[in-house]
Amino acid sequence: MIYFDQAATSIPMLPAVIDEMVHTMEHIGANPGRGTHALGVQASDIVLRTRSKACDVFGVQHVNQCLFFSSATVSLNQAILGYPWEEGDHVIVSTMEHNAVRRPLEVAKQRYNINITYIHWTGNKEEFVAQIKQHITPHTKMIALTHASNVTGDILPVEEICKGVSETKEITTLVDASQTIGHISIDMTKSNIDMLAFPGHKGLRGPKGIGMLLVNKEIELSPIHFGGSGGQALSTSPPIEWPQRFETGTMNVPAIAGLYASLCNMEKHMKENVSRETKLVTNIQAALEKIDNIVVYGPSIHDQRVPVVAFNIKDVDSEEVALILDAHYDIAVRAGLHCNALGHETLHTTDQGVIRASINATNVEEEVQTFIQAVQEIAASYKQLD
Ligand code: ALA
Repeated sequence: MIYFDQAATSIPMLPAVIDEMVHTMEHIGANPGRGTHALGVQASDIVLRTRSKACDVFGVQHVNQCLFFSSATVSLNQAILGYPWEEGDHVIVSTMEHNAVRRPLEVAKQRYNINITYIHWTGNKEEFVAQIKQHITPHTKMIALTHASNVTGDILPVEEICKGVSETKEITTLVDASQTIGHISIDMTKSNIDMLAFPGHKGLRGPKGIGMLLVNKEIELSPIHFGGSGGQALSTSPPIEWPQRFETGTMNVPAIAGLYASLCNMEKHMKENVSRETKLVTNIQAALEKIDNIVVYGPSIHDQRVPVVAFNIKDVDSEEVALILDAHYDIAVRAGLHCNALGHETLHTTDQGVIRASINATNVEEEVQTFIQAVQEIAASYKQLD
């Protein structure tokens, strides 16, 4: 199979990730932060080692503010629903946000009576930055942005925006790095990113079932989950101390061990400016643009992007094309709406969806050529039906 659904979950995982996970499952199956026995201490060490690595790699000031959750989605829910909102507060987001940002924000709107402004993303970065600035009011408490669209691969100018509000201590910046992590280096302190969420299983080529929320500012976050936290068991309230305040229940230590290997690999991989996979996806786009009944969405081949390309064959249902690619060519892509209704409204593709091909460092030129050939054949067959 040719696997071009790397933006959903990367396959294969890094061998070093698998080694770490298997070793942990075979030899260190205990609970971290619970028993004082040797295995429990070893499990705690694994958790702390990964927390410290994330702290170093992403420029976070305090290791205790590097929090583990079961996914980027849960991390974003924690950031948004745990935020100390007051009635009338205002938040600015883009129209490319995944449901993992949009839905908790809409819940916060109902729960706390806050206002949300969605800034239209056209692909024009200067215009977008200007629009954000224009919409900031004295009530604005948060700017929450996806770093890159999971539908089109567009990279949003989050650094410029976050740096631009660095003087405004009242505004918290939240970045959903689900699609950029492992592809673009991020220093939260230098970029004035206050909260950053990411998963293990996409660009990091690590495990599913693990995500992180990194917090680089003093924020009175409230936990959104409650339960055992390993200490202060007599209290009916969660601990005040971070990270125990947020990390309830038994932690996914094998995944946290795997994430450590992913982060170490990322540090090496980040040395390339434009990754080989980004160049390959640009080649796909250039070839698709030559086919006259294909529409390509998102960045131009000259723009910076993550390795994702989105397209349609005239008005054919995107799911139908994905089924043909799978059944006849053994090529996996993701079509439909990609859990991103806002992004598809922005692209005017809510009815049709789009076909998304997403690749990573394990994909090769030969697969790209096979894919292009397959799409050319499918597009030609629909043309004959005209
Ligand atoms: N959000 C993931 C995607 O874009 C699952 O496919």
